[in-house]
Amino acid sequence: MAKDFDSMEDSNRSGNAPWHAVSDPARRVWLQGGLGTALAAAFGPLAAGLSGCATAQGGGQKLGFQSVPPTRGDTVVVPPGYTAQVVAPWGEPVGIAGNMPAWRPDASNSAADQAVQMGMHHDGLHFYPLGTGAEASRRGLLVMNHEYTDDGLLHPGGLADWSAEKVRKGQAAHGVSVVEVALGADGWQLVRPSRHARRFTASTPFAVGGPAAGHPLMRTAADPSGSTVLGTLNNCASGMTPWGTYLSGEENFAFYFNGPAQPDAHQRRWGIRPTDSMRWHLHDERFDAGRHPNEPNRFGWVVEIDPHDPASTPVKRTALGRAAHEGAWVATTRDGRAVVYSGEDARFESIYKFVSRDRIASGGGNLTKAQANATLLDHGTLYVARFDADGTGRWLPLVHGQGPLTATNGFADQGEVVIKARQASDLLGATKMDRPEWLAIDPKTREVFCTLTNNSSRGRAGAPGVDAANPRANNVMGQIIRWVDDGDFDGTSLRWNHLLLAGDPAQARAEAQGNVRGDVFACPDGLAFDQRGVLWIQTDMSSSAMHQGELARFGNNQMLACDTASGEIRRFLTGPVGCEITGCTFTPDGRTMFINVQHPGESPSERSDPAQPSRFSTWPDGPGATRPRSATVVIRKADGGLIGT
Ligand code: FEO
Ligand code: CA
Ligand code: CA
Repeated sequence: MAKDFDSMEDSNRSGNAPWHAVSDPARRVWLQGGLGTALAAAFGPLAAGLSGCATAQGGGQKLGFQSVPPTRGDTVVVPPGYTAQVVAPWGEPVGIAGNMPAWRPDASNSAADQAVQMGMHHDGLHFYPLGTGAEASRRGLLVMNHEYTDDGLLHPGGLADWSAEKVRKGQAAHGVSVVEVALGADGWQLVRPSRHARRFTASTPFAVGGPAAGHPLMRTAADPSGSTVLGTLNNCASGMTPWGTYLSGEENFAFYFNGPAQPDAHQRRWGIRPTDSMRWHLHDERFDAGRHPNEPNRFGWVVEIDPHDPASTPVKRTALGRAAHEGAWVATTRDGRAVVYSGEDARFESIYKFVSRDRIASGGGNLTKAQANATLLDHGTLYVARFDADGTGRWLPLVHGQGPLTATNGFADQGEVVIKARQASDLLGATKMDRPEWLAIDPKTREVFCTLTNNSSRGRAGAPGVDAANPRANNVMGQIIRWVDDGDFDGTSLRWNHLLLAGDPAQARAEAQGNVRGDVFACPDGLAFDQRGVLWIQTDMSSSAMHQGELARFGNNQMLACDTASGEIRRFLTGPVGCEITGCTFTPDGRTMFINVQHPGESPSERSDPAQPSRFSTWPDGPGATRPRSATVVIRKADGGLIGT
């Protein structure tokens, strides 16, 4: 997520959230020793099951590539012996037969064109093989999110002469793309046309599953049944289910709505403010939350898409809770139930998990595995995490009627609990985290990792102070937390520590130094395991803050690899000017990696100055290009070897 939204992610502080100080006496005592004591406790002896990444010795065999230095160049840099190839930039037609309008570099494509072209600002992505055996690593579907738009680049004239057509084009540049790709003599290329090619935009009808389906708080004038929502918004990270579907998180949806002059408590808690950021409401009244107060309740969900079935209806899975969802990631319990972990990327929000009631069905007969699990994520139990100072924690159930989640406290039913998951988490005493971004699950150790990207508001007057899991005030650098749920992934208690605190030992401020072992970095965001168990970390230093202050020495945003057994971190890739690196997926053979470069050329001023679309990057089209474009980058080894070796 770029700086423009970053600056607003503390909007929830204007709400009536109970910014309770840490009141646990044990925790207060524990923190009195200062940061050094806190780190010692976090990295001290741990219960079995958590390998000591930051403390273990040796290792490093997993990372065979030569480290890449920090850079400020306008290009993608990969280690010697590797190649990086661009595919599917913003504006490329996705490949719908008979409807493949070419991208126009002057941005004169219409809204209708954009609706069948790659959206803007590529984010999470996943590779779905087509075929079996070796073919599965040579042909497949890439499904990816388009998080938001830079309207300065999207339209001729940028934000000037704002119109219904510009709003429609912006909505069409959001959402999710499904494209077919294949490996040939010229590397990976789009296969067009493809029967799988598809776009989901901010206008596509979505069904609603789970306890909020049809709920009074989901009903609007245009949808009195509360069962069909037009569109998905601000889709950030991606997850793949064991039944072959795609999960996408609706992240900063609040910024799309223009709220009433005096938002009520519910609206304030969710960041609905009297002014919007995207100006959609000026030409689409659905985004005027003063007139349509329930419309924002229909966003902030994890959506599920079946990319293999072009006729399938995408679904908002409300049982997983409403949040500024970064994304959602699935583990499987030993008895075959799905556990979906997710986080909310906003300052002082929480980490969640959902445990399905039923086991994952195998499919067969007339049903694909995806079809056999069409309602699996609609029934189960939602929890929110509390990380305690002693290295243990609890998963607190968000179940109507349990504890404080009763009608007396404003929760009429389970639908209202999931719609108001933030208020429910406040009442339960969930830990308020430093902006949870991506999660990754190590299937071998059963460790779950989560990037906490940064939180410069931590410790500010009126905001929560440090706690064990979020141990640094003015947390510019971010950290990666990990835990193991006791017993199985459905366990209601856990043990946790930090994989690492990001930072730079050259910094004067102790809270900015971190404890990275190897190549330093800041602001972890994307996170993914490959087949060999290497943990890939992607950074998102905001473009308004990078290259200055404590972030001055890190260069452009980048991607690093971590051997979680040894703790070694090695920088693998650096991106072009002004971008963030996000999304990470592999072919089954581990010999092709796909990542996304988002918002190259983003400048701190572009959104506020409609006449000045960014000119700081010409990536990926090169010198002379006037509009930098988000794009997918395919990484291979020249010798065809495994990525990371
Ligand atoms: Fe969309 Fe939290 O980054
Ligand atoms: Ca992100
Ligand atoms: Ca981010």
